[in-house]
Amino acid sequence: MGGGPGGRRANALRPVALADVQAPEVARLKTGIGELDRVLGGGLVPGSLVLLGGAPGIGKSTITASALGNLAAAGRRVLYVSGEESAAQVRLRAERLGPHALQVPIVAETDLDVVAATVEAERPEVCVIDSVQVLNAAGLTGAPGSVGQVREVAGRLARVAKGGGPAVILVGHVTKEGALAGPRVLEHLVDCVLSFEGERERTYRTLRALKNRFGSTSEAGVFEMREEGLVEVADASERFLAEATRAPGSVVLCSMEGSRPLLVEVQALVAPSELVPPRRVANGVDRNRLALVLAVLARHGGPSLGSSDVFVSVAGGVRVDEPGADLAIALALTSAAKGLPLGSGARPVAEERRPSVGRPSTARSKAVGAFGELGLTGELRHAAHPDRRLAEASKFGLEPVLRPGPRLVDLRAALRAAFAAQARSERAA
Ligand SMILES: Nc1ncnc2c1ncn2[C@@H]1O[C@H](COP(=O)(O)OP(=O)(O)OP(=O)(O)O)[C@@H](O)[C@H]1O
Ligand SMILES: [Mg+2]
Repeated sequence: MGGGPGGRRANALRPVALADVQAPEVARLKTGIGELDRVLGGGLVPGSLVLLGGAPGIGKSTITASALGNLAAAGRRVLYVSGEESAAQVRLRAERLGPHALQVPIVAETDLDVVAATVEAERPEVCVIDSVQVLNAAGLTGAPGSVGQVREVAGRLARVAKGGGPAVILVGHVTKEGALAGPRVLEHLVDCVLSFEGERERTYRTLRALKNRFGSTSEAGVFEMREEGLVEVADASERFLAEATRAPGSVVLCSMEGSRPLLVEVQALVAPSELVPPRRVANGVDRNRLALVLAVLARHGGPSLGSSDVFVSVAGGVRVDEPGADLAIALALTSAAKGLPLGSGARPVAEERRPSVGRPSTARSKAVGAFGELGLTGELRHAAHPDRRLAEASKFGLEPVLRPGPRLVDLRAALRAAFAAQARSERAA
């Protein structure tokens, strides 16, 4: 017992039953951005540390500036620390975002000591640090953004926040591969990790919680980048469904964005290739997932696309990160390879022997929905929350929806169901 040899002898603590621990209910700070509040689990928790990661230009500064603007308009004390842009640059953005954003007090500073002193002097309720990678801890060697620096910056701000200080939103950059570069080391240090995803050239963006000590990580919000800033998209399914082309290569995926169902269009294009190996381009779906779907298709009754370029993308720039997307990807690829739209009324539009260069269908066929995971042996596996996905599909009149079930046990069965009309006409011929 006691300390080790030469160790200091500390006084023992008396543990307290959890039931006797004082835990006052704290009111959450609403950012006034519904989707952001929902992803946070109901708003910002005072004194918490939130890491907001996202690729360059995705809209991190925009969403944090709007959130602070709303909080300021609601009478909260806020502070925006900009290390990346000058105050004048931030002002230009705020002008675009409207009068609320212009009320936000700002300091443009990169020295951690100065920032910490300013936060302690100003005592804001919510503070944004844009970004954690540009702040510089003077006592440390290493360039700003290096692991040691980033960890010191976050640790220091965490101490400021925990001592009855502000809720701090740390903005962090992520690499193209999606890892929170530098900030990755912060994930255990902060209370909440939010990831802002999408493609900067496209209008739609999704916000997800990867970690949340005060709420579920299964929430996600959909935003659209507009002139006046990021606008919440409450009716995302309806929009994506309305935009679905229904042409060969198009399938509507009944996906789950966290606990929320979302209908998105998966598009595929298959073209003869001169390249070895041929191109595999995936936008919005995981490349490895695409490789798996291609392999399963080739082995279990689908087209062999070994000498074709393959492009798969999720329309609108949405990212789908769930195995439940497999079946929709497989059907979109098959439909593209056959040059046939999915659905019962479908007629072949491709010429014989040139299946990959289908002309667009003239008759506008119905959109077909799908979801389900593909196993390596070609079996169809259940995806989470089938009932919620189906409810969303029926809410927007999407029918039929191909999904794993007693009649659709494997990929072959799904392909038969999806291209039933064609199979019938082939038998008749
Ligand atoms: N007038 C405008 N209308 C619509 N969208 C705009 C306009 N001006 C800028 N944008 C969009 O805002 C995006 C930049 O947003 P923002 O500066 O918030 O991103 P960020 O994630 O903070 O970027 P960074 O990593 O450079 O800090 C641009 O990529 C562009 O799409
Ligand atoms: Mg920025």
